[in-house]
Amino acid sequence: MDITGSTAIVTGGASGIGAAAVRLLAAKGATVVIADLQADKGEALAEEVKGVFAQVDVTNTDQVKAAVDAAVAIAPLRAVVNSAGIGWAQRTIGRDGEYDSAHDLEAYKKVIAINLIGTFDMVRIAATAMSRNEPDEDGCRGAIANLTSVAAFDGQIGQAAYSSSKGGVVGMTLPVARDLSAAGIRLNTIAPGLIDTPIYGEGEASEAFKANLGQNVLFPKRLGKPEELASMVVETITNSYMNAEVIRVDGGIRMPPK
Ligand SMILES: NC(=O)c1ccc[n+]([C@@H]2O[C@H](COP(=O)([O-])OP(=O)(O)OC[C@H]3O[C@@H](n4cnc5c(N)ncnc54)[C@H](O)[C@@H]3O)[C@@H](O)[C@H]2O)c1
Repeated sequence: MDITGSTAIVTGGASGIGAAAVRLLAAKGATVVIADLQADKGEALAEEVKGVFAQVDVTNTDQVKAAVDAAVAIAPLRAVVNSAGIGWAQRTIGRDGEYDSAHDLEAYKKVIAINLIGTFDMVRIAATAMSRNEPDEDGCRGAIANLTSVAAFDGQIGQAAYSSSKGGVVGMTLPVARDLSAAGIRLNTIAPGLIDTPIYGEGEASEAFKANLGQNVLFPKRLGKPEELASMVVETITNSYMNAEVIRVDGGIRMPPK
């Protein structure tokens, strides 16, 4: 699928994997709408790629709709990448037998709201806009790539909330791709392993933490680069025969319990 002259939306596009996807989509000729909370980084990247920044919290449907409308106003929206996401680490129960020490339920709901419901909200609104596009020679009107995580399959101790949210993104892949097929819209899901992005924080301590993490990777023994993920994300969008699939991009890692 050719995205030249189209618009693309990348949620979480101001940082990490999303930012790498923004650069690659722009290099392939799309005008990219960077939909993120972080205005400073988002605006700088928009200027670099001659795109647009839209201040979006993916848990706010009005802001999701405004980003989609902004894209459609420029050119037909043919590509969406849902990369906005947050982590959370807490065990399901505490050590002292007190109910108050159990997993923070508001934190659980927040992770689900951003990573899972926010992803689905952008899918349903963006696909509605895509359904109005003229189809290409394959009958394709657009394509969507969602970011899940290997934590959807190998969730570690303390990852109940994060893995639940990412498992939901895996679970929606086939039924949503089936729903959207009638409109000529494809949807795929990418499951990163351990990727070197600001999600692990910045500074000396996080560099040491990341160096240690890389030792668990099968091969090559390092963290992945955001560009290595963006390459697969964009392939699922431009490859017209990719649909309804979940793809791990993880150097072969299988996460241990902790
Ligand atoms: N880095 C990894 O190792 C890794 C591994 C597996 C999965 N992932 C997933 O890949 C995606 C991208 O991760 P990353 O490592 O690039 O993270 P990142 O922290 O570098 O970027 C995430 C971006 O999402 C934005 N964001 C957060 N909450 C938002 C909200 N409510 N509305 C809009 N934007 C919001 C942040 O501002 C940030 O710019 C996430 O969904 C993450 O869960 C990352």
